[in-house]
Amino acid sequence: MKDIKKVIEKLKKEINILEHAYYVLDNPLVDDTEFDAKLNLLKKLEKENPDLVTNDSPTQRVGGLISEKFEKHIHKFPMLSLDNAFDKEDLLEFSSNINKQVKFNSHSFFVEPKIDGLSISLIYEKGKLVKGVTRGDGIQGEDVTFNVRTIRSIPLTITDNSDYFEVRGEVFLSKKEFHRINAERKEQGEEIFANPRNAAAGTLRQLNPRIVASRKLDIYLYYYLNRERFETHSDSLDYINSLGFKVNKLGKQCSNIDEVYSHIELIKDKRIALDYEIDGAVVKVNDFKLYDEIGYTSKFPKWAIAYKYPAEIKSTVLKEIFATVGRTGKITYNAILEPVSLAGTTVQAATLHNAEYIYQKKIKVGANVKVKKAGDIIPEVVEVVEDESYPDLKEWIKVDNCPACGSYLEIFSDEVDQYCINFNCERKIIKSIEHFVSRDAMNIEGMSIKIIEKLYDNKIIKNVIDLYHLENKKKEILQLEKMGEKLLSNLLLAIEKSKTNDANRFLFGLGIRYVGSKTSKLLLENFKSIDNLLKANKEEIEKIFDVGPKVAQSIIDWISIESNIMLVNSFKKLGLNMSYSKHSNHNNSPIAGKSFVITGTLSKPRNYFVELIESNGGKVLNSISKSTNFLLAGDEAGSKLTKAKNLNINIINEEVFLNILEEE
Ligand code: IVH
Repeated sequence: MKDIKKVIEKLKKEINILEHAYYVLDNPLVDDTEFDAKLNLLKKLEKENPDLVTNDSPTQRVGGLISEKFEKHIHKFPMLSLDNAFDKEDLLEFSSNINKQVKFNSHSFFVEPKIDGLSISLIYEKGKLVKGVTRGDGIQGEDVTFNVRTIRSIPLTITDNSDYFEVRGEVFLSKKEFHRINAERKEQGEEIFANPRNAAAGTLRQLNPRIVASRKLDIYLYYYLNRERFETHSDSLDYINSLGFKVNKLGKQCSNIDEVYSHIELIKDKRIALDYEIDGAVVKVNDFKLYDEIGYTSKFPKWAIAYKYPAEIKSTVLKEIFATVGRTGKITYNAILEPVSLAGTTVQAATLHNAEYIYQKKIKVGANVKVKKAGDIIPEVVEVVEDESYPDLKEWIKVDNCPACGSYLEIFSDEVDQYCINFNCERKIIKSIEHFVSRDAMNIEGMSIKIIEKLYDNKIIKNVIDLYHLENKKKEILQLEKMGEKLLSNLLLAIEKSKTNDANRFLFGLGIRYVGSKTSKLLLENFKSIDNLLKANKEEIEKIFDVGPKVAQSIIDWISIESNIMLVNSFKKLGLNMSYSKHSNHNNSPIAGKSFVITGTLSKPRNYFVELIESNGGKVLNSISKSTNFLLAGDEAGSKLTKAKNLNINIINEEVFLNILEEE
């Protein structure tokens, strides 16, 4: 038995070394067959000796269990985001602000690629990976340990035996893997991911670790949290690299802003050739000891900045212009383009917004146009290139009728957009069902636009209400193409579950003009139920903080339409929750269940903060202990601040505190 244990331990070590060489160093030591032989032998021995299977064995990366949901995790140190720089001037300002703080200390910088993925925090205790957490709102993330374990470039064990060890980095998908996944999804008729970042985010939030393991997520680590152990960021990166973590090789120490800028340019030149997406470079002060002195704003550290590369712009031919109608009836114009590769993806369509935009920019069909990605995802036609063929092209004329139902389009006074105002326009109905089931509304998982269209086209649903009668139409649904038992039963479960949603989701789902997700929440927090809201008058609605007269009027208009009230009543009869519980308010608040100690002078009386914390489900205690989550510290904070520092408690000022609440 002892011998077997030794053999297993030796095999595990060997496999770890081979995986590190393959996934981190990109330098395989053996071929796949040899590797598989070792892994299979380990699996066999573990199967014969189940008591010798340990959680950190390379065979145990993928757990068997599919989770229901992710648990929340409060970050020990908030996961801040970075301020942006767009040119050299911004960099000089960043540097001069630092110099103001640390007049007598010279320092160097460190420049590294800004990986376009999603940030993750890895926590190790006594050398074992115990947690992988997403950024979330920066204060509280989601525990995605099961998924993180499947990433082969993340070591499950490290030789640093600290009680607490935390590193942060960016999880991403290589361009190659992104294309592979999308090709597979296309073949299976699933929606494709817009870009590698979305694909990586979607993958990490998968509840089934097997699916995660099948998509080859990767990670670069860029921030070591136990800062007191090193003088510089670059030393800490060398250290984590020596422990087996993947660190980007393009990082470089630079002694001044000129050097910083040249390195940023150098990374930019390499950008297209890299097998992963980057959207800029991150510049950090290299000397850790200056970080506290340089300090933080409420959202960003002042010792680092993200330099964003300008969006890539390409010219291509605009082949056609077509209009689409959205759930509100608004008409959007779109361009079909000669395919062009732009920022890592092939673009063949772009938005042109509204007719006014096309007229103003003098856009014509057949013209050469410049295209860029707006907000990274949706491409946009920026302007037309007026070359020799341009004058011969026909002027473009807007449509007068809805592209879906043909009814005459209206333009409301003081607006530029055209609207289809036909209540029975089928496309509007389909799009409003899509909105109703969407994540921030009723969150009916699996109910994609494709499925909605299929159900609608086959006359199984004709409105949102019908979603709640699908149970009676099982037979017809199962006869539809690509509608299996499993898919249907998952959909029915998700629909049933949505009945218990808090009513703010329902309100948002109704799609009342100007009533977005945040406003819906504000309204329900105040009125507590849909019934109360429907009984309210304009003044009562308008009175709510952050809800203006425009929103109030829109709600009053909506309520005054009888069919809308009938719709709400039908939902009520179907058993949808029409109230908003204080309890769930707490659940949604990032500070729910968290304990606070308040100290120092704040801008408002202490009681104001106590009430705010308690009404969001937090607790206020009088003294600091190890289990305190936050110290809310004002000016002239005394011994509590020192104690909190010693105990590594999250210390936040008023601004940060209010930001946390806002992010809710
Ligand atoms: S440092 C407090 N380094 O960019 C400093 N961030 O816009 C922590 N990111 O939230 C961030 N590559 O998700 C840092 N080399 C890099 C990065 C990087 C990508 C992401 C990260 C961060 C976001 C800020």
